[in-house]
Amino acid sequence: MKVLVLNGSPKKQSDTFRLTDAFLKGLNRNGEHEVNVVNVIEKNIAPCRGCFGCWQQKKGHCVFEDDLNPILDMYCDADLIIWSFPLYCYGMPSHLKALLDRTIPLVKMDMEMMNDGTVRHKALVDFSKIHTLVICGCGFPNWEGNFDAMKLMCKNCFGNLNMVCVPETPMLNVPAAAVVADPLLARFEKAGEEYCASMTLTPETIADLERPMISAEDYIRNVNGG
Ligand SMILES: Cc1cc2nc3c(=O)[nH]c(=O)nc-3n(C[C@H](O)[C@H](O)[C@H](O)COP(=O)(O)O)c2cc1C
Repeated sequence: MKVLVLNGSPKKQSDTFRLTDAFLKGLNRNGEHEVNVVNVIEKNIAPCRGCFGCWQQKKGHCVFEDDLNPILDMYCDADLIIWSFPLYCYGMPSHLKALLDRTIPLVKMDMEMMNDGTVRHKALVDFSKIHTLVICGCGFPNWEGNFDAMKLMCKNCFGNLNMVCVPETPMLNVPAAAVVADPLLARFEKAGEEYCASMTLTPETIADLERPMISAEDYIRNVNGG
């Protein structure tokens, strides 16, 4: 299958991407998949100007020619899109949100009421074959509500969706934390294998991936300097 990874961390040593990389290792164990990683921070993707020129043209492209349109082509061609990003102010980093906003050429102005009562724009392209996996890291320990706004946005924007939201991810780049970080990376690798076999993750696997590496109390104590 074709896998498009949208890496939304602006950092060279992304905590979140370590998880994504481990997942990809498991997913592509046999080298059978075509994996394209786009480091979104390196792309010139301007904010959407809201002109709706795309909806007049109906070509699945933005009317502005920056780095976006080739990514939209890859987006439509993908079987799996992995959005890998750190949580920023309860949402996604702004350069990645700019890309998400600019997927609007892929839908039409026409709307439809869904069975669950939500309202969507009708699709211009075939989204039914596209699976989405969100891998989101964050700096806080686990607390109710930290990921809620981001999860709701993703639920409304993506179909065939699995989300994995991992607390305490800065520990992934702390050598002294390897004793708890390495087992988590191993679980991500295994989850990649599971995804390859079934194109989804079970709730049990997701819970296993989201389990904090250490307790919130210990994490806060370490962050605050012991
Ligand atoms: C501007 C900014 C906003 C952030 N907002 C949140 C937040 O709302 N919740 C949270 O838990 N962590 C937040 N963080 C922490 C990052 O999510 C955390 O450091 C993450 O591990 C960085 O991942 P990366 O190395 O993949 O970029 C924020 C960090 C920055 C720089």
